[in-house]
This record gives sequence, C-alpha cells and structure tokens, in this order.
Amino acid sequence: MVSALLLAALPLAAALPYSASIFAGSTTSAVFPPPGATSASYDEYFPDAVEVGFAGPTPTGAEPEAIQTAPASPVKVDAYPLVADGAMYSPSFNPMRYWGNLSPWFSVGGAFGLPEASPQVPSGCELTQVHIVQRHGARYPTSGTNEFAALLQSTVANGTGFTAKGPLEFLNTWTYKLGAEILTPFGRQQLYDLGSTSKVQYGHLLDGFTQLPVFRTTSEWRMVQSARNWAAGFFGLEEYPTSYYEEIIIEEDGYNNTLVPWDDCNNANGDLYSMGSWYANNWTEVYLKNTVTRLQQYIDGVELTTSSVSEMQDLCAYETVSIGYSKFCELFTEEEWRGYQYANDLDFWYADGPGNPAGAAQGIGYVQELLARLTQTIMTEFDTTTNGTLDGNNITFPLNQPIYMDATHDTTIASIAVAMNFTSMVASGPLPVDHIPDNLSYNTQHIAPFAAHLVGQVMTCPASGGPPDSAKYIRWLLNDGAVPLTGIKYCEELNKDGLCLLDNFIKGMQERVAEVDFQHDCFGDDVEVPYPDNLTNGRYIR
Ligand SMILES: *[C@@H]1O[C@H](CO)[C@@H](O)[C@H](O)[C@H]1NC(C)=O
Ligand SMILES: *[C@@H]1O[C@H](CO)[C@@H](O)[C@H](O)[C@H]1NC(C)=O
Ligand SMILES: *[C@@H]1O[C@H](CO)[C@@H](O)[C@H](O)[C@H]1NC(C)=O
Ligand SMILES: *[C@@H]1O[C@H](CO)[C@@H](O)[C@H](O)[C@H]1NC(C)=O
Ligand SMILES: *[C@@H]1O[C@H](CO)[C@@H](O)[C@H](O)[C@H]1NC(C)=O
Ligand SMILES: *[C@@H]1O[C@H](CO)[C@@H](O)[C@H](O)[C@H]1NC(C)=O
Ligand SMILES: *[C@@H]1O[C@H](CO)[C@@H](O)[C@H](O)[C@H]1NC(C)=O
Ligand SMILES: *[C@@H]1O[C@H](CO)[C@@H](O)[C@H](O)[C@H]1NC(C)=O
Repeated sequence: MVSALLLAALPLAAALPYSASIFAGSTTSAVFPPPGATSASYDEYFPDAVEVGFAGPTPTGAEPEAIQTAPASPVKVDAYPLVADGAMYSPSFNPMRYWGNLSPWFSVGGAFGLPEASPQVPSGCELTQVHIVQRHGARYPTSGTNEFAALLQSTVANGTGFTAKGPLEFLNTWTYKLGAEILTPFGRQQLYDLGSTSKVQYGHLLDGFTQLPVFRTTSEWRMVQSARNWAAGFFGLEEYPTSYYEEIIIEEDGYNNTLVPWDDCNNANGDLYSMGSWYANNWTEVYLKNTVTRLQQYIDGVELTTSSVSEMQDLCAYETVSIGYSKFCELFTEEEWRGYQYANDLDFWYADGPGNPAGAAQGIGYVQELLARLTQTIMTEFDTTTNGTLDGNNITFPLNQPIYMDATHDTTIASIAVAMNFTSMVASGPLPVDHIPDNLSYNTQHIAPFAAHLVGQVMTCPASGGPPDSAKYIRWLLNDGAVPLTGIKYCEELNKDGLCLLDNFIKGMQERVAEVDFQHDCFGDDVEVPYPDNLTNGRYIR
C-alpha cells in the first residue's frame, strides 16, 4: 500500500515501527482493554470497599455556599493540561480562545456588557435557586472520515504519495488518531470540575430538597458521560449513583426533546441550517486565501484549498482537546485564528442563532419548561419540543427543586439565548460575510465553548425600602459573565448586576413564548432559503 515515493520521503527509523496499513494520514485506533483482558475468576482476589470494610470516619461537613460567602468569584483562566503553543503568536495570545465552539470554556468576565457584575450573589441578596444548562465537555470530532486525512490517504491510495517539508514536515509521519463523538479525557475533566465547582458554590441549596434531585440529560453517549461526570464531581464518585435520578431524554430524529430541539423542528435541518456553513465558507475563502499559498509551498502531491486548510485548523483544536497538543496549531498566525473564530461566529449566527429563522423556535421549549419551574405550574400543553410524557408529571418533571441541571449541546445554548431575548449579543448587528466587524457582540467562544454553562440565579434581595419589602430577582450568567436582560420586556432597565425582578422576567418570558410561533418557524413551508441575512431575533415572517 505505501507508495515508493512516500517511503522515499520517510526516514527509515520512522517507517519501521508501523505495520503496512499505517501510513501518513491513515487512521489509527486504540484497542483497550485488549481482548481477553478480563476474567471473572479474578474477582474474589479483589474484594470491593464494602467487603473490605475499615473505611474510617466518613462525616461530610455542612454544604458549602461559596457563591454567597466568598468575597470574590474564582476566574477560570486556563485549560490544564492542554498545551497550545507556537512561534507564530505572541505570549499573550491564547489561540484556544479563538476556536469558537471548540474552545475550552473560560470565565468571560464582562463579555456580554456588564463588566461590574460578578458571579457572586450581590451583597445583601440571598440565593434560593439555580437553573443550570450545561453543554457537554470537549469531544472528538463528528463521525465520518476526516477530509484532510482522507486527502493525504488518497494520494497514497492512488500511488502518487506526497512529500512535505518545513513546517509541514510532520505530515510525512502524521496519523489520524482521534475517536468520534464521545468525550475526550479532558472533556470528562471539564465536567467533573464543573460538578465539584457547583457543589462548592451552590451545595447549600441541597438542604432545600425534599426528595432526590432529578437531573436531565439526553441519550447520546457524550451527553450521558457529561451528566455523570458532572454528578460525580458534584456528589462524589462513590455517592453519585444513589444521590439523584438520572433522566435520559431520547435524542433521535423525530423525538421531542427541548435539549435537542432540531430533532423536532424540520426547518432547523437541511438547507436552512446549511446557510450557516454557506456563510462561514464564504468567509473562509476570504481569510484563508493567502494561507493556502503560504502552506502549499511546503507540500507536493496534494493540492491545498481553503477548505482543507480550515480543516487543519479544526485538527489543531480537536487534537489539542483530545491528545493534549497538536502540531497543526503551530501553522497559523493570530490573524488566521481570529478569522477561524469569525467563521464559527458566522456559522452559529446563521445556523442556530439570531440570524436563523428557526433560532428562537428551537429555544422556546426550554423557556416553557423554565416558566413551569419558576411558577411551579405543571405543563398541560405540549406544542413545541416539549415531551408531554416526561414534562406532564411531577415525577419526571419536578417543580420544587432548588437546583435544576440540564445537560445539552452548543447549538441549543445558542438557541436558548435567542429565545430568551439576550439582545446584547446582537448589538453589533447582522454578521457581514466579508470582514470581521469592530466590537463584534456575537462571539461563540463566549456563548457555546466546550462545557459552556448558562446559570439562572434566583435570589431574594432587599427592595429599596429594605426588608421586609424584599423581592425575588433572577439573573443569568453565561460562562461566569452576567447577561444584560434589557432586551426582555419588563426588564428593560439596565441593572449593573444583570438582575431583573422575577415576576417581570416571568411576564416577559410568557410574552416571548406567545410571540414565537413554533409551528410556523419549525414547520412552515414559507420559511425557506434564501432567507434575508439581516435577521437578529431568530425569526422570519415572509
Ligand atoms: C492522487 O490524489 C491526489 C489527492 O487527492 C490528487 O491531487 C492527484 O491528482 C491524484 N493523482 C492521480 C494520478 O490520480
Ligand atoms: C417522550 O418520552 C418518552 C419517554 O422517553 C418516549 O417513550 C416517547 O417516545 C417520547 N415522545 C416523543 C414524541 O418524543
Ligand atoms: C458566497 O459564495 C458564493 C459562491 O462562491 C457566491 O456566489 C456568493 O455571492 C457569496 N455570497 C456572499 C454573501 O458573499
Ligand atoms: C411532540 O411535539 C409535537 C410538536 O412538534 C406535539 O404536537 C406533540 O404533541 C409532542 N408530543 C409529545 C409526546 O409531547
Ligand atoms: C405531585 O403532584 C401530586 C398531585 O398534585 C401531589 O400530591 C404530590 O405531592 C406532588 N409530588 C411532588 C414530588 O411534588
Ligand atoms: C468599539 O469600542 C471602542 C471602545 O469601547 C469604541 O471606542 C469604538 O468607538 C467602538 N467602535 C465601534 C465601531 O463601535
Ligand atoms: C424580544 O426582542 C424582540 C426584538 O428585539 C422584540 O421585538 C420583542 O418585543 C422582544 N420580546 C419580549 C417579550 O421581550
Ligand atoms: C431585511 O432585508 C429585507 C430584504 O431582504 C428587507 O425587506 C427588510 O426591510 C430588511 N430589514 C431590515 C430591518 O433591515
């Protein structure tokens, strides 16, 4: 299989350890545990902790509430143990912050327009409830052949081979090592960390539960993995299986699932969805045009295009979050990473976000569930992505939990932001396809990075008259950044901490549910491509 040309290009030492089926660009896969590695007859030699006994004292302390007690909130600044380094950028430039939805999450501070707000509960207020919407952690790429690896392989298959030198020399021996779809080791760590972080911050809310919590996720394996790693971090590895009910909602085409809304929304698929990548691809032609020329000089036998070079950028992100480091990252400049980030912004904006006709409709099912929880009113109508079998009873859809935790996907968080009218994200207007606008307000690395989390904090704060005239408020933090709620009717007044009176927020959301026509936006035939490129509210009425 290995062509003569390719062998000639390889130093002998590099060629030797590989079997004939492993060649540059080929796909390799781990085999662990090796076949026959387990034997039930060994079990008696390894009794478990209960059988062994002698556990020593096991008291747990009181539940912590650091979100209330600490003077300041922690700031997540790195993505240990990942390394993204390169000679092409300055030490202050962190390329991981420019990978859009492939960036590991970090605290975004004032990114949404409230620089003075802290995730800490404002002084004098008392936290009573949290609503957590949690994206899965870092994952392997989507199934299917990686097209850049396939391109290299095709030269081997057709007998021409390729030779790479200079910064691309590593390609001569590079193999594609990644899995597909499920969490990477770092992705598991992200969710475990966030589970234990949530316990440190919100643990005391457990004191208000009258039965075991119900936490929801969806059936896709990385979603189950994410929810479990979060729960293991939150309750403890040994305790989590018996500490809550794990509700797994079916994630499959045709099923209703507010956390996977495109499975019950025709217009969220096909041509209307592909507009996102259409705009992104147009921009990729612009920002990577010169890069293709620059990199082409280092490889013979393969014709690079803007699309294959953008896949090399994807590989930088995916390899880093999967195997800790990627040589592909060294190939690109700061400006090329900014371009890559913007392609992702365009994709989200037009495929799932404010610029998509089904953007608001996809988030509205979650808003209905949120309203049911906030008003403690059981739902009786199921006319969006909600599933009446699950949401119509208080066992699988309890209404009295101090902590709600729903695991979901990146695009769902983007759609929920539209459904909730987080209009600060659209302040800089529709996204142009030929340049990056100044002061861009729509940045996917802030909205939907790996392990992104949207947290609604419900709290009681003293009213201006002081106690006893206290009132209930709500605010939303996305990746630790407070979101201004000024686009929501009855919450228009700017509050530096992002607070809105709970009753007003509820009224605004009820109107939002009424104004988003799910049936039309998700199933209407008059919603078709091309739709205008100037939508900013996730809806399109022809
Ligand atoms: C072999 O494959 C490469 C990459 O797809 C292509 O550029 C080249 O033209 C092919 N050569 C032949 C002889 O088919
Ligand atoms: C609703 O959820 C139940 C329980 O998982 C499932 O059996 C049913 O098929 C779902 N219905 C729809 C329309 O998704
Ligand atoms: C996007 O690219 C297509 C194909 O190259 C082109 O026809 C179209 O005009 C471009 N659209 C924009 C908005 O630049
Ligand atoms: C699923 O959603 C559709 C709307 O898309 C709704 O008509 C149907 O009743 C829902 N099914 C359930 C079980 O809630
Ligand atoms: C569920 O609703 C029933 C009927 O309204 C009520 O009796 C019961 O206490 C509720 N259970 C929970 C867990 O809220
Ligand atoms: C961008 O923000 C800076 C700093 O806030 C401001 O000075 C500048 O006018 C803004 N530019 C545009 C085009 O809005
Ligand atoms: C949501 O935002 C849109 C556009 O910005 C506005 O027209 C609408 O009134 C808002 N709806 C609510 C309920 O706040
Ligand atoms: C958006 O574009 C359409 C035409 O494509 C135009 O009719 C409409 O007025 C525009 N809306 C805004 C707010 O610019």
